[in-house]
Amino acid sequence: MDHFVRRGGELFAEDVSLTAIAEKFGTPTYVYSRATLERHARVLFEALEGVPHLVCYAIKANGNLAVLETLAQTGCGLDAVSGGELARALKVGVDPLRIIVSGVGKRDDEIEAALRAGVLYVSIESPAELEMVGAVATRLGVTARVSVRVNPEVDAVTHPYISTGLRENKFGVPYDEALALYARGMGMANVAMVGVTCHIGSQITTVGPFVDAAGKVADMARTLLAQKVPLAYVGIGGGLGIPYAATDNPPTPAEYGAALARALKPLGLTVVLEPGRVIVGNAGVLVTRVIRVKDGADRRFVIVDAGMNDLIRPALYKARHAIEKVVDGSDEASATVVGPVCESSDTFAHDVVLPRVVTGDLLVFRSAGAYGFVMSSNYNARPRAAEVLVDGGNPVLVRERESIADLWRGERSPAGRAYDDQLPKGFAP
Ligand code: LLP
Repeated sequence: MDHFVRRGGELFAEDVSLTAIAEKFGTPTYVYSRATLERHARVLFEALEGVPHLVCYAIKANGNLAVLETLAQTGCGLDAVSGGELARALKVGVDPLRIIVSGVGKRDDEIEAALRAGVLYVSIESPAELEMVGAVATRLGVTARVSVRVNPEVDAVTHPYISTGLRENKFGVPYDEALALYARGMGMANVAMVGVTCHIGSQITTVGPFVDAAGKVADMARTLLAQKVPLAYVGIGGGLGIPYAATDNPPTPAEYGAALARALKPLGLTVVLEPGRVIVGNAGVLVTRVIRVKDGADRRFVIVDAGMNDLIRPALYKARHAIEKVVDGSDEASATVVGPVCESSDTFAHDVVLPRVVTGDLLVFRSAGAYGFVMSSNYNARPRAAEVLVDGGNPVLVRERESIADLWRGERSPAGRAYDDQLPKGFAP
């Protein structure tokens, strides 16, 4: 359930109309609903009631500081996969003992930052990385709390680009090599082997793969506990899918939580989740304005002012984001909705049925809160969109739209001279 609702034929984010937001902040603009963020986090907490747990929201899905602060205040910890994400987590004042650090290619300096901050644990994904973490901890004179991300070799049945738990994937330690890694870690003076974790993929729409993965990590945890490894945490990653269309029917958080509890509660460990999409996906939309309608040879194109640089999921994964007109209309017609970027893949939807639209009308792409803004770029020299967080009747600009001058910030002439902020004649600031 989310707080994007129609009132009098117009789409609202909580108590603010998206028309008002577009007028105030321009387009394209990402709009997030605070009440929805909080609700989605709480539903997960409730789903795990009775099981000691820590929900570490996966920053990668949407790293806006206001989103992180909101979720941290609601009771989430955070999952960071880079030095940049760790800095974001610390910037909003989250207790380091509620931050976990993962990622397949952590650099030495990123490991150092994590250990200096004193995060709950670092998930390691290879023997070489364990050695590196041990060496950094020794150099700093601290004890590194470490989890091993095992690859449970479970088919998550999702898009191949976002499946991570198969044998052929680059992620995790092969299941049958993990025990040796714990033995090695137990022999290292500056390392504490505190957890076992996994992550099998994203946008998973049945509970089966989670049951299989939880069963496998639970088996691993039991073996490790029997070997006196001082485990305190068992992680199951993120990946719970969301409905992108009305016909999608992923497991509810309650069903998901119950399945995890059955497999993991008997271990007596703290269950750590790393959900991203299920918390932020349907807590955000992308508002865009129709630039023009163009009748092509055999179809009608609706050209909007958001492009694949703003929301790349349709181009990259053939993802479908429901498209709606902000203000209801009649006279439905089929249209292909495209952006202005010079690539045919800059297409949001082929032949969808929409109310008839004209230049200036507002459309929204639903379910854009996860992997939307964070994957945006400046391709075609397009400044990145604004982000607005709505709290009841209050829309707050939580990231300014980039300006044209931002596009060349940091660039230098061949002689090494910085370019100033002055815009060429004819460009509005
Ligand atoms: N933990 C780990 C180790 C991950 O790799 C991921 C996502 C998550 C947690 C969070 O997964 P979630 O709950 O959001 O499914 N850009 C793609 C999704 C990539 C997901 C990468 N890893 C998309 O737009 O669909």
